[in-house]
Amino acid sequence: MSTIFVTGGAGFIGSALVRLLIAESDWTVVNIDKLSYAGNLESLAALEQNPRHIFSRSDICEREALDQLFATHRPAGVIHLAAESHVDRSIHGPAEFIQTNIVGTYTLLEATRAYWLGLGTAEKTGFRFHHVSTDEVYGSLGETGLFTETTPYSPNSPYSASKASSDHLVRAWMHTYGLPTVVTNCSNNYGPYQFPEKLIPLMITNALAGKPLPIYGKGDNVRDWLYVDDHVRALKLVFERGLPGETYNIGGHNEKTNLEVVDTLCALLDQLRPRSGGRAYAELKITVADRPGHDRRYAIDAGKIGRELGWSPLESFETGLAKTVAWYLANPEWIAHVVSGEYRHWMEKNYSNRTTE
Ligand code: NAD
Ligand code: TYD
Repeated sequence: MSTIFVTGGAGFIGSALVRLLIAESDWTVVNIDKLSYAGNLESLAALEQNPRHIFSRSDICEREALDQLFATHRPAGVIHLAAESHVDRSIHGPAEFIQTNIVGTYTLLEATRAYWLGLGTAEKTGFRFHHVSTDEVYGSLGETGLFTETTPYSPNSPYSASKASSDHLVRAWMHTYGLPTVVTNCSNNYGPYQFPEKLIPLMITNALAGKPLPIYGKGDNVRDWLYVDDHVRALKLVFERGLPGETYNIGGHNEKTNLEVVDTLCALLDQLRPRSGGRAYAELKITVADRPGHDRRYAIDAGKIGRELGWSPLESFETGLAKTVAWYLANPEWIAHVVSGEYRHWMEKNYSNRTTE
């Protein structure tokens, strides 16, 4: 079996994972993505002609489409990233989060189980359902402490509650039906191709457009940042070598307050793309009302994946952020298409011959 499914492969982390799998493995990847506002095939432009990347515009909530994909491609496993992923959107409209993150994961688990039950013994044992989740399921930390794999779940936002629900479903499908699952819970990612609604790409694109940089509350909430390529290397490792039934936390040992992040970005931009008139980008910072229920601090203990699978991040926050800013500066077209909405028509123009429905 030489094919795997990646759901959400047109999103930020999914597209980085697909690029890695094509470059550094022999898998053929069937990329299952419904292309919500966050899905962008322009992020996979380099793979347009690659025969090992098969794109299917499908919704993980649609059982028939999933059954058809399993019957056609007969994968050795699934890496599941498709989700609604932005906390602020989940506060303003939780319905899509319940639908995709909970109902979609349930539907995908059931389609996977039906297919898996029909496999021979060796293929059944070797099969993996890898669920990609977040550290936000553990809730919020005080000034000290780290999330470990045994930290009790305590999600606070509609987003994190929907992800926690999906983690529990995956766990139940393992315990009840024996489906060989692995779960990873990762801290905040950043890097190229991230949709400019999350903190880092929003600040870069706003700064470059001369727009205000909105800081929620006092800007002293802490996140533990991980460069996206480090995350997807960990995902590949867990998918290929992780033990069924296990959870692995993934994080970068990079705790920063939001103000530290924005100030570092402004300093990098001052250096690489100085504003006219010699004004500092930091002048664009404004304080806005805090996010309701804003989690105070996230921090990951990534000791288990280091000890058991030999993973550690290659990028520090400084090197990763410098690469990220350089990427956004070098790719104004990608940003312009996202801002104008043109990216949504990219598939019709460029990917139509590579699509299976
Ligand atoms: P993203 O929002 O950039 O991408 C999500 C992708 O899923 C998009 O391509 C979208 O079109 C697709 N999608 C949404 N609903 C779908 C549906 N019903 N059927 C098929 N496809 C659908 O998200 P991301 O930041 O790349 O996150 C990917 C995964 O990693 C998510 O599960 C998220 O919870 C998890 N995660 C993200 C972070 C982070 O910092 N971004 C950290 C830890 C875990
Ligand atoms: P975000 O990138 O939305 O990720 P998450 O909420 O999943 O951690 O936000 C990261 C942090 O930045 C979070 O503490 C909220 C804060 N934030 C701002 O201060 N301003 C903004 O415009 C955004 C989008 C986030």
